[in-house]
This record gives sequence, structure tokens and C-alpha cells, in this order.
Amino acid sequence: MVMNAVTTRKSVRNYSDRPIEDSVLNKILEAGRFAPSWVNVQPWKFIVVKSQATKDLLSESAGGQKQVKNAQVVICCVADIQDWDKSRFGKVLEQRGLDNDTKNFMLESKLYNPANLGEFEALMRSVEQLTYAVAYMTLEAHELGVGACIVGAFANELTKKDDELAKKVKSVLGLNDKQVLVDLLTLGYEAESVEIKKFRKPVEDVVFYESL
Ligand SMILES: Cc1cc2nc3c(=O)[nH]c(=O)nc-3n(C[C@H](O)[C@H](O)[C@H](O)COP(=O)(O)O)c2cc1C
Repeated sequence: MVMNAVTTRKSVRNYSDRPIEDSVLNKILEAGRFAPSWVNVQPWKFIVVKSQATKDLLSESAGGQKQVKNAQVVICCVADIQDWDKSRFGKVLEQRGLDNDTKNFMLESKLYNPANLGEFEALMRSVEQLTYAVAYMTLEAHELGVGACIVGAFANELTKKDDELAKKVKSVLGLNDKQVLVDLLTLGYEAESVEIKKFRKPVEDVVFYESL
């Protein structure tokens, strides 16, 4: 089942006018919420955007990519480095049933809490976690017959493109400087089926045993 979804999923960029039912959208969001993460920290927020004005702004920030403005829904996928703060991360560790000494050890450790290394490291790790959630949502969308495209080429702290536009997007989405919009997940039913051409590097270029 999973392999079938993995191999038949494709980026869908042409959407019909058919709205996405809330029950379907909720399942896609649930797939993201249930994704695995580092010590279960879940440093992500998903902002569901349906407003045309915001989709237009996001599309502009993505160099005019049409699938962003034409999507029925854009899920704005945010990495939130505040989730590594001792109070929030501590709560997660408590929920895991860790005793106080172990919890405090992990919160103070550079190995378990990347925030102790600095904001860059915390952001890197947050983006890493968010990626699983985005991948899960993409697969669930595919399973439900909803087309999806991950969009990463837009103005933000990672691309360093167009600071002014990036700030405007952050303000419209209500993000602070510890919250980074990493991916736009554009969703909609496919307008007309486009044949998939899957280009992937051959196995011998990417899979190695014991060493490179
Ligand atoms: C992190 C990330 C960012 C991406 N950004 C864009 C983008 O800005 N615009 C776009 O059209 N596709 C984007 N894609 C989609 C890729 O181009 C696509 O996944 C890849 O070409 C493989 O095709 P497939 O998804 O149909 O298998 C992105 C994919 C990922 C994972």
C-alpha cells in the first residue's frame, strides 16, 4: 500500500475548481500531525490558507508560480524553533513520562536539544522534522485523490529572496521571527491527468552498502 502511494504520487500543479471537502482536508492535516519527530518535539505549525488574497501574495512571493494561486488550499508549513524552548520541549518530555532528572538532562544537553547549540541548529532540526510532516501530508493527499505540490522556492529566510515580500508574508500569516515558513503545500483536485514521468537517479548512484 505504502509503496504504491510512494511510486504513483506525483507533483500536481493544475487544479480544477472542485473545492476540497473539510473531511478530506482534515485527514491530510492529521497525516502531518501524526508524523514522527525528534523526541516527539513536533516543532511545526500548519496554516490552512483558502483566501484568494493570501494565495495571490504567496504566489507572488514564489515568483508567480501558478499552482499557488490556483490551489484550492495552500497549507503553509511552518518550522517553529520556539518548540525547543525548555518550557515547551519540557512539556513534551513530561508527556513521555520521563523523570525530572532525565528531562532536565535532555533539556540542557547539546545532543538532545539543538537549541543549546544555537538558533541555526534549532532551525535546521525544525526543518528536518517538518519535512516528515509535509511528506506524510503529500502521501495522504495522494491516497485521497487530491493533487499536491510542495513549493519551496519563495521569499523566506532560507532563500533570502526579497526581504520585503518575505516580511509581508510573515505578517499576513502572523509569524514571528522564530517561526519560519518553509514549504507551501498546494492542494487541489487535478484538472486533467498529466502523465507522470518519474525521473530518479539510478539505484547504483544513491544506494551503497557499508561505505561509499
Ligand atoms: C522541498 C521541496 C521544494 C519544492 N519546491 C518546488 C517549487 O518551488 N515549485 C515546484 O513547482 N515544485 C517544487 N517541488 C516539487 C519538485 O520539483 C518535485 O517533487 C520533483 O521534481 C519530483 O517530481 P514528483 O514530485 O512529481 O515526483 C519541490 C519539492 C520539494 C520536496
